[in-house]
Amino acid sequence: MYKDEKMEEILETININGPAPEAEPMRQYYFIKKARIYVKELSEKAGRPLTACTRTFGCQMNARDSEKLVGILEKVGYEVIENENADFVIFNTCTVRDNANQRVYGRLGVLNGYKRKNPHMKIALCGCMMQEPSVIEKIKESYRFVDLIFGTHNIFKFAELLNATFENRGMVIDIWQDTDKIVEDLPIERKYSFKSGVNIMFGCNNFCSYCIVPYVRGRERSRKPKDIIREIEQQVADGVVEVMLLGQNVNSYGKNLEEPMTFAQLLKEVEKIEGLERIRFMTSHPKDLSDELIEVMKNSKKICKHLHLPLQSGSTRILKAMNRVYTREQYLELAQKIRKEIPDIALTTDIIVGFPGETPEDVDATIDMVRQVKYDNAFTFIYSKRTGTPAAAMENQVPEEEVKQGFDRLLKVVQETAREQVAKYQGQIMDVLVEEINEHDGSLLTGRLSNNTLVHFPGDASLIGKIVNVSLDECHGFYYVGHMVE
Ligand code: SAH
Ligand code: SF4
Ligand code: F3S
Repeated sequence: MYKDEKMEEILETININGPAPEAEPMRQYYFIKKARIYVKELSEKAGRPLTACTRTFGCQMNARDSEKLVGILEKVGYEVIENENADFVIFNTCTVRDNANQRVYGRLGVLNGYKRKNPHMKIALCGCMMQEPSVIEKIKESYRFVDLIFGTHNIFKFAELLNATFENRGMVIDIWQDTDKIVEDLPIERKYSFKSGVNIMFGCNNFCSYCIVPYVRGRERSRKPKDIIREIEQQVADGVVEVMLLGQNVNSYGKNLEEPMTFAQLLKEVEKIEGLERIRFMTSHPKDLSDELIEVMKNSKKICKHLHLPLQSGSTRILKAMNRVYTREQYLELAQKIRKEIPDIALTTDIIVGFPGETPEDVDATIDMVRQVKYDNAFTFIYSKRTGTPAAAMENQVPEEEVKQGFDRLLKVVQETAREQVAKYQGQIMDVLVEEINEHDGSLLTGRLSNNTLVHFPGDASLIGKIVNVSLDECHGFYYVGHMVE
């Protein structure tokens, strides 16, 4: 990612009257420069700045992608706002569970209402849902007012596709089946000044039998370490103190690089970056978590005391059907090893209830795991059937009522253990990275401990982005209320 001035210098040199360059990222710079003219013309016609809004559904990887969309939108001259009643609206979609899809269709109905009143409005859709052919069919049929659709593999082409919406009438659709391309050095506009996500890899090769992500995000590919380090160094120079390294399975980072490198080795390199204070990462697949990684985490001053280690199920039989490639015993042994080596670490997890063939006894086994591992937090999901995945074709789908009962039983135990775990630090003084003014009480700040627990305490906005010492006075279930100490 270039700094603004450098990018402007490069844009200066581009001749938009000639043909578009073939090579990236120059090709996209060409289209940024071209789109600026269209946006300026439209803005002059309207007699006001043009506005744009991005909406993100889904995971942190999508959130990071949306920062890339905002980077382009700002570069071509849109004023980016939070309101969906804007001149350009883009939904970055998720399809991991059906409720994510339903929310997108619901919001599209609302956008149609806005577009009727603002006929120049442009509506775009991108992200994981768009990689599903059935979704594209549905939009072509029932949501004709959409102007632009693209997928996860060609998001780097956003500037080019934006131009196409100015130059074409009707719906522009560009979906790729897969890619081995990683385009560097495109503009990105971070949501927070002091923390940032950083992609270290894209895609997933694991094909857990319930999961659609490998189908919509393609095969695993790692970014080169030097590109990752350079990006973080630039962010730190720009005020970032905490990075979150992002990948569907960070533990298999680097396997397909020309010069292979492990995730633990990458972490050691990131640790060396001066001025960077905290390192987080997401997500770790238990099957690939190495002793080397535990060792690096244990000895690190910067890696946060938090590991998200998705369990999915505590029953070996279900884990096998899920294609998770570990047993209940292997997971438990791993979790215990981590707790022993790094005693103050917070372990969090993801759990699915209602996978095909799951019995109440399997749910008992999952609940027992929660009790034994004592998760600091767990995200619990009701199984959602995703067309095209192996699990969707399984015959023994569990009746809704039974799933609901299992889910409620599990949730109760998850909440009990999380409360106990979070309360362990009551009375201690710990480092907090201040993130924002408290949403409900303007006299309070909200920040995070290294172990990811939220803390609220009195203070003013000048501390946002700083790491301060806070006494954890009262534990309120999942968060603390405290006060700052010198
Ligand atoms: N790559 C990450 C997870 C990405 S999806 C990992 O393997 O850990 C985030 C979570 O959504 C998963 O951990 C899983 O718990 C949940 N999930 C995925 N597919 C699902 C489905 N079909 N139904 C319900 N939950 C699902
Ligand atoms: Fe989905 Fe499994 Fe890949 Fe995670 S590791 S994204 S759950 S297939
Ligand atoms: Fe959803 Fe795609 Fe992330 S399906 S969870 S946004 S990778």
